[in-house]
Amino acid sequence: MAGDDILDLKGRAAFVTGAGQGAGRGIALALAGHNAAVAVNDFVLERAEAVAQEIRDAGGKAVAVQADVGDYASVKAAFDAAAEALGPISLLVNNAGNAGPNSQIRLTDDFWSTDIADWDRFFRTNLYGVMNCCHVALPAMVAAGQGGRIVTITSDSGRVGDARLAAYCGAKAGAAGFMRALARETGRHGITCNNVSLATLDPPIPEDQREAYYAMDRTKAQLSRYTIRRFGTPDDVAGMVLFLCSDAASWITGQTYPVNGGYSFSL
Ligand SMILES: NC(=O)c1ccc[n+]([C@@H]2O[C@H](COP(=O)([O-])OP(=O)(O)OC[C@H]3O[C@@H](n4cnc5c(N)ncnc54)[C@H](O)[C@@H]3O)[C@@H](O)[C@H]2O)c1
Repeated sequence: MAGDDILDLKGRAAFVTGAGQGAGRGIALALAGHNAAVAVNDFVLERAEAVAQEIRDAGGKAVAVQADVGDYASVKAAFDAAAEALGPISLLVNNAGNAGPNSQIRLTDDFWSTDIADWDRFFRTNLYGVMNCCHVALPAMVAAGQGGRIVTITSDSGRVGDARLAAYCGAKAGAAGFMRALARETGRHGITCNNVSLATLDPPIPEDQREAYYAMDRTKAQLSRYTIRRFGTPDDVAGMVLFLCSDAASWITGQTYPVNGGYSFSL
């Protein structure tokens, strides 16, 4: 393979959703660190702006674009603004997820006891958000004729199931299936579509509460299910996403890669 850095993304522009914190921030920094120009999307504009500024301070190119990925019109406006600032978008990372904007992911009741009104926040961001972004991004990606990359952050909840998170599991599994169909449609255009399936990331709790958190029986029990006995970090996620966005991954599509410390194994 020509060139020294097989992960180099020079000349490409990326759109990363929910990139104002957590895994999305790590992904945005990693893509920018390998020379992609990055549109940093978040529902919360201040978060996106802070990450875009961080990239520019490090010498990279970035713009912040506010949008709720669950809202098609706002996704369209954000993509237009991103392409105007950075040029055609050829890398899309669908990272926004969990329970959507302004909502925490928590264990629910057994599914049959849940309020049907509570399902929407999971599907709106984790499934429709992914479909909206792909629907907006693909026409220009196909027309440019330069290929492209779409990576969606899914969850082991959607691969192997998690009790009392059924709506979330369903939305994530739906997104993964949607990406497989998209891979079939886009392959002839040199566009790859893959999923990165995460298990639990290290929660963003204040430093002075961490010791107590890790001493809890519940945390210990959860960690005992991990072959590599720690929770994940944004860097763990970013490495796989960067690889899938690179030329090194041009013959990989329609796949789901667990990045999960061995929480589950894939065949
Ligand atoms: N954290 C985990 O343990 C874990 C486990 C498995 C999978 N995941 C998945 O990884 C991804 C990243 O998770 P995280 O925990 O790093 O994220 P996070 O919750 O820490 O941050 C997500 C960011 O996305 C933004 N966001 C939420 N909904 C949005 C929307 N509709 N439109 C635009 N922005 C939106 C939020 O404002 C926030 O800044 C998600 O898809 C999540 O489902 C996370």
